[in-house]
Amino acid sequence: MQDLVIRRPDDWHLHLRDGDMLRGVIADTSRHFARAIIMPNLVPPVVTSADAAAYRERIVAAIPAGDRFEPLMTLYLTAGTSPDDVEAGHKSGLVKAVKLYPAGATTNSHSGVRNIDEAMPVLERMAKIGLPLCVHGEVTSSDVDIFDREAVFIETVLDPLRKRLPELKLTMEHVTTKDGVDYIKTSKANLAGSITTHHLIINRNAILVGGIKPHYYCLPVAKRENHRLALRAAATSGDARFFLGTDSAPHVDPLKECACGCAGIYTSINTMSCLAHVFEEENALDKLEAFASLNGPAWYGVPANDETITLRKQVDAVSYPAKIDTGAGPVTVFDPMFPLHWAVV
Ligand code: NCD
Ligand code: ZN
Repeated sequence: MQDLVIRRPDDWHLHLRDGDMLRGVIADTSRHFARAIIMPNLVPPVVTSADAAAYRERIVAAIPAGDRFEPLMTLYLTAGTSPDDVEAGHKSGLVKAVKLYPAGATTNSHSGVRNIDEAMPVLERMAKIGLPLCVHGEVTSSDVDIFDREAVFIETVLDPLRKRLPELKLTMEHVTTKDGVDYIKTSKANLAGSITTHHLIINRNAILVGGIKPHYYCLPVAKRENHRLALRAAATSGDARFFLGTDSAPHVDPLKECACGCAGIYTSINTMSCLAHVFEEENALDKLEAFASLNGPAWYGVPANDETITLRKQVDAVSYPAKIDTGAGPVTVFDPMFPLHWAVV
């Protein structure tokens, strides 16, 4: 038996949804994680500070008794977002980041931004008050191949935005390519990246080889093996610019297993076991705490958690359900395709 004690982790990119789904999934996060950045892509989206305050109350009401968990709220950036509302939300301590979804990039992103110019007044205010912008880094034009959308976004949107507004703090979320990793590494300030659990484990073969596997489909879509290896190197390097954002994104099975299945992989329940496995494979267990518990708080300007969790390597495989039942329906859990031996005890 081997024990690894780390500060309690946080999840810097999480979809909790609402209603029955929220109540069905939140315990899988609050069991292990102290805080999470909550994605605002509800229907309708969380656009104003008032929306975020109401959503936060619904989340807090769903936290299981005895769990200490703090939802960190975000606003969904639209052409109509008011700089004053964003600033007031931030000043009150409620709003921790604003999320940029290019229109049409992913689940419920039709309200997203079509042209970055229309968002400049809000972005300028955010730069002034030090509020980070979380970016879904993919272009959406139909003439760009889906596997190239991140690289093209960096070149045509992200880099020009950083040059135009260097004071703006940007989180490039769920980086999936070597291009993204390399781009973040060139930055001296105001740019960091989150990496999901599943992009450290699967490449695009998982989705497409031996039949189409909807439970490995997410956005940004998993890329070639060389990109997965670049993500693993970045995550396990200890580099403070990279941290965990699971992007755990539950959808009920009927909406995944159909002719036009939703994007999203549900990893909250087994993320810590998966990460310990990956970091051990990379001989980097000593870097897991930086990735999951230290780099994110430093980037978002909050203290790391005082509490710890213990990961224990056991002989028997860790058991976790293949599906969870939520009041909204069954949700399939991420299958890393290897047995997990690190348990959170
Ligand atoms: C997310 C979802 O379902 O809300 N899906 C996903 O594949 N990650 C949206 C997102 O974060 O892109
Ligand atoms: Zn997401």
